[in-house]
This record gives sequence, C-alpha cells and structure tokens, in this order.
Amino acid sequence: MGRIRVAVVYGGRSSEHGISVVSAGSVISALDPERYEVIPVGITSEGRWVLTDGDPATMRITDRAVPQVGTGEGVVLAPDPTSGGLVARDGGSALSALGAVDVVFPVLHGRFGEDGTIQGLFEMAGVPYVGPGVLASAAAMDKQVTKKLLAAEGLDGGNYVVVRRGETVLHRDIDHLGLPVFVKPARAGSSLGISKVDSFDQLAEALDEAFRHDSKVLIEAAVSGREVECGVLEDEDGKPEASLPAEIRLVRGHDWYDFEAKYLDDACEFDIPPDLPPHVIEEVRRSACRAFNALECSGLARVDFFVTPDERVLVNEVNTMPGFTPISMFPQMWAATGVDYPTLVDRLIQAALRRGAA
Ligand SMILES: Nc1ncnc2c1ncn2[C@@H]1O[C@H](COP(=O)(O)OP(=O)(O)O)[C@@H](O)[C@H]1O
Ligand SMILES: [Mg+2]
Repeated sequence: MGRIRVAVVYGGRSSEHGISVVSAGSVISALDPERYEVIPVGITSEGRWVLTDGDPATMRITDRAVPQVGTGEGVVLAPDPTSGGLVARDGGSALSALGAVDVVFPVLHGRFGEDGTIQGLFEMAGVPYVGPGVLASAAAMDKQVTKKLLAAEGLDGGNYVVVRRGETVLHRDIDHLGLPVFVKPARAGSSLGISKVDSFDQLAEALDEAFRHDSKVLIEAAVSGREVECGVLEDEDGKPEASLPAEIRLVRGHDWYDFEAKYLDDACEFDIPPDLPPHVIEEVRRSACRAFNALECSGLARVDFFVTPDERVLVNEVNTMPGFTPISMFPQMWAATGVDYPTLVDRLIQAALRRGAA
C-alpha cells in the first residue's frame, strides 16, 4: 500500500494565524514519513493558498514573534469533486506534483478554519478531513450557540448576556451578572478581544475591543473557580473518549488566561490530572463527552471547564481544532492518558478516513 497523502492546511485569515502555523509545524513533524506524504498548504493572512516547504524548523515562535505563512506557488482546492483535488492556480508545476489528496488535516484555528466554512469546502470537494463537520464546527465557534446547545443537554455554561454591535448596554442589563464580568467576542479564540471588567465604567472600552473582532459579544459573569480542560477523541466506533483532564494554573502575575499567558510568557503550569476529587474528575470527563455529543462533534474536541470551590462543573467553551503546539494542552493531556503525539495525529487521520467523504 502506498503512503497516505495528507494535505496539512494551516495559517489562514483568522487572528490565530500564527498559532496555527506553530500547531501545523508540530503536526507535520509528528507524521510518520513512512506512512504519510505531507502536502503542506499555507493560507496567508490575506487568504491566498500557497504550497509551502512545510519546514517545521521555521514554524516556531522566535523572540516572542509568531511565524507567518509567506509566499509560494498558488494552489486551490476546487469545490468540484471531479477536478482532481489540489490544483496549481497558475498552471504551474504543482499540477502534476499534487493531484488527489487522501485526507485533509486543517490545522486551522478560529474563523475560516474552525468555524465550518472550510469544512464546507472539503465536503463540496469530496475529501475526507480531520475534525468535526460543518455543523459542529460552526456551533462550537459561536460561544452563544454553544451555550444554548449545551444548556439543552443540561450542561451549565454560566450566566451571560449577548450584545450586538450598535446596541447599548445599561447597568440594569448586566446587574444580575455581578462584577467582574468577562467581555468577549462570540466568535474568536486565543483570548483575543477578551477583557476582564472590574467596574461598570470599564465596560465601554471592553466592548469596543471585543467588537473589533466580532459583531456579537458576550458579557459573562466571572466564574471564580479553577480552569480545567479535557480532550475528547473519537474512538473506533465513533464514540467520544475523554482524556485525563488538565488544570491550568497561572503564575507570574497573570490574572487570567490571556494571550500572553497562553503563548508568550511561559506563565502557566499544568496538572494532569488536576488535584481534584476523583468524582469531580469523572464528572469533567463525562461532561466533556456529553458536550462533544451535544454539539454533534466528530474526530476531536477540547472542552474547557471551570470547577468552582463548591464543585460545580461549568463548561466555558468547546474548541473543535484546539492548539497543537508542543506546549498545547490537547496533545499533553492525551500523552498523559497514554496516547503520544504521533499516535494522536494518526488516530485523527484514521478517524477521518473511516468517516470518508460525504
Ligand atoms: N466567565 C469567565 N469567568 C472567569 N474567567 C473567564 C471567563 N471567561 C473567560 N475567562 C478567562 O478568559 C480566558 C479566555 O476565555 P475563553 O472564553 O476561553 O476564550 P478563547 O476562545 O479566546 O479561549 C479563559 O481561559 C479564562 O481564563
Ligand atoms: Mg479558551
């Protein structure tokens, strides 16, 4: 049997472009070259698709700067399933080198990557792809829709208010949430556009910042609790399986898990599993699988929780293409559960192939 041709698609137009490049670098390094032929496809921040050299050495954070997709030969994935997969845009040499791919691994975070849009293209093109489909991706991208679907499943997402661009928020609209509140774009990620607001007069500025990222914003009651994440993988029967959870503990002066804490400052410590009673750990794992099903996920998801001092388990959000950098939680949680990084990417690709094209 020949090698499986995997198009690793990364970068993209979202504000998480750079993190996606770092994630893709680790995925590419982990794919066994004896079994997989990688076709690295970068999407520039303008949205241009290019063939890259996919060299993991250049796909790293250096001096606090995240890498970017640069130039390369233009390629497209035509929505026409009879067109033969990836084709060179300018009729260049790529045409012969590319052709059909067996599976796409969209290592993309945020909009136009994790939100169902590119998944729609893969469906149209008739190529199997890693991760949740159109519906689950779109639902999980939107923090309000996520909360609604989780609530329908009996999962607690905390108290919140939704504001759309142009609407005014009065004191009494958010009084019941108390202070502080978290103000966040409905559809973003990597903590971009999020502010913690301690007094009502900081609200306008926080809303402005969030509306820079989205036309819909959530104001959430701040949960005082511990942050716990749980990885979910589809097993061979298509059922969700939960990893050991992880607790994220912030050190060195970070008050919440913002962009700097996540990627730049080396400011987090992780406990896998968290120092929580076994029944709480079990509830987190069960809830992660329930959330996976509630959103109709497939392949993988990372479900993020808050656990309050009185042991309430609240779902904060669901990520359908969680970070895959070497320090990212998803691969680390699976490693602690006995699934190392190469096995993890292998399982994801196998699940995509099993599911096949739509
Ligand atoms: N309601 C909340 N209560 C307490 N902390 C929160 C709340 N919402 C967000 N945070 C903090 O902000 C971080 C980022 O928020 P999150 O909703 O996970 O957005 P993102 O999709 O950007 O990761 C969380 O990891 C947590 O540290
Ligand atoms: Mg988060």
